[in-house]
Amino acid sequence: MSALPHRPTAPLAAPGTRLRTLGIPHLPQVLIIENAAYDFPWTRENFLSSLASGYLAEGLFDEGDGHLVGYYWAMKGVDEMHLLNLTVAPSEQRRGHARTLLQALRVRALQDGAQQLWLEVRLSNERARQLYQAAGYREVARRRAYYPARDGREDAIVMSLDLREAAA
Ligand SMILES: CC(C)(COP(=O)(O)OP(=O)(O)OC[C@H]1O[C@@H](n2cnc3c(N)ncnc32)[C@H](O)[C@@H]1OP(=O)(O)O)[C@@H](O)C(=O)NCCC(=O)NCCS
Repeated sequence: MSALPHRPTAPLAAPGTRLRTLGIPHLPQVLIIENAAYDFPWTRENFLSSLASGYLAEGLFDEGDGHLVGYYWAMKGVDEMHLLNLTVAPSEQRRGHARTLLQALRVRALQDGAQQLWLEVRLSNERARQLYQAAGYREVARRRAYYPARDGREDAIVMSLDLREAAA
């Protein structure tokens, strides 16, 4: 499998950053952030199989030194898109990068004809739930014991954004 080409989508990125399609060459940077951000991070194999499956992956890069600031990975459905991973490097958090990445995902989903965006988030992940709520996502279901946790399992909250409603 060859690496995906760089495809700048500058208008969606905050000043000083640039959005690019992610591919295999970016995985070392992705894994550093992933391992710093999660107790249960995705592995290199998870990212490789996501690329092999044709999942959408975009990263936000610093225009100065080119380092990766954050990324999202999403799976396309027939008329929906499922956000699988949204992560901002710990040292770069609280600067609006996740909001930028969510907006980029929304634009891509609309371009691809999706009508709905879906995601799961840990019940305890207050900051992510706050982020998604602020972006218009609604909590629609709860999946019991969905995630591994340090003390057993943890529930997931399923959230969705109706793109037709959001665009109206
Ligand atoms: C959740 C995460 C993606 C947010 O990234 P970020 O770039 O810091 O978020 P932003 O700066 O774009 O914040 C946007 C909004 O999210 C919410 N938010 C983000 N961080 C927050 C925090 N620490 N506490 C409370 N709310 C927070 C706020 O509503 C914020 O808006 P505000 O700054 O105007 O108050 C980031 O903390 C992260 O990568 N965490 C680890 C991985 C993770 O949990 N990913 C989500 C998995 S579902």
